[in-house]
Amino acid sequence: MNFENITLEKKDGIAILTINRPEVLNALNRKTIEEIGRAVDDIENDESVRAVIITGSGEKAFVAGADINEFVGIDVVTAKELSRNFQILLNRIENLGKPVIAAINGLALGGGCELAMACDIRIASEKARLGQPEINLGIIPGAGGTQRLPRLVGIAKAKELIFTGDMIDAREAERIGLVNRVVPPESVMDTAVELAKKMAEKSPFILKLAKEAINTGVNMDIHSAISLENDLVTIAFTTEDKEEGMKAFMEKRKPEFKGR
Ligand code: COA
Repeated sequence: MNFENITLEKKDGIAILTINRPEVLNALNRKTIEEIGRAVDDIENDESVRAVIITGSGEKAFVAGADINEFVGIDVVTAKELSRNFQILLNRIENLGKPVIAAINGLALGGGCELAMACDIRIASEKARLGQPEINLGIIPGAGGTQRLPRLVGIAKAKELIFTGDMIDAREAERIGLVNRVVPPESVMDTAVELAKKMAEKSPFILKLAKEAINTGVNMDIHSAISLENDLVTIAFTTEDKEEGMKAFMEKRKPEFKGR
């Protein structure tokens, strides 16, 4: 596929999508958002891809936010459209039927933090810093940040971050639950790949059910969500992969899942 601002590599069942505008700290302009959308289409339809890693190029940034150059002088209609397009993309990433890992190699600010939060798992470099600095530009987060951040770290911490615009370091982000794990800068990709490989060995269909149970369930009342879980685990019990998983256990061997 032909991309200008991102790269997409696939190897051993893992797709690595890299935002590649290091000269502007991988800021996301319209074109980049459109290209990520095309990459997501491709990943979604490619059965050989079992897990996805999203990262930024260069040593400094994962993504330093939406491209501020595109915000100067825009009218309200364009502003709404830009925010909506970005939201739609992040909703798609969040609900992609495959695990998505953010390998946060550096700054994850504004839309970069929002992109990372739309991923299932976040691995951060010890040098990474995260934040929602939009308030300093006279706006608020517009790609799900006001909603995903409080769901991850709690309302009070989210308000502190969004109202001050302050950046936090990776350790603090781990402490408050914004990232899963902090590793030395040189280990970020290896850690993400190792995790992705582990997930790629599971049944892709069963992983999809697990993701649906969590993503849909957390937005429902607990009784309905547990009922949804009951339906989804019942579907899991009807699959060939369930037969294989149980049989492999009894035969003391590794299961070979087919996604059926
Ligand atoms: N949009 C467009 N350009 C951006 C950008 C963004 N979100 N973030 C960084 N850049 C550009 C800078 O303008 C600069 O370009 P230049 O070399 O042509 O001047 C280049 O990336 C390098 O950034 P610079 O500011 O020189 O690096 P720094 O180490 O001094 O500061 C930051 C890093 C992240 C603190 C600073 O770039 C910043 O505050 N960026 C904006 C973050 C933000 O508000 N994001 C939310 C957007 S809604």
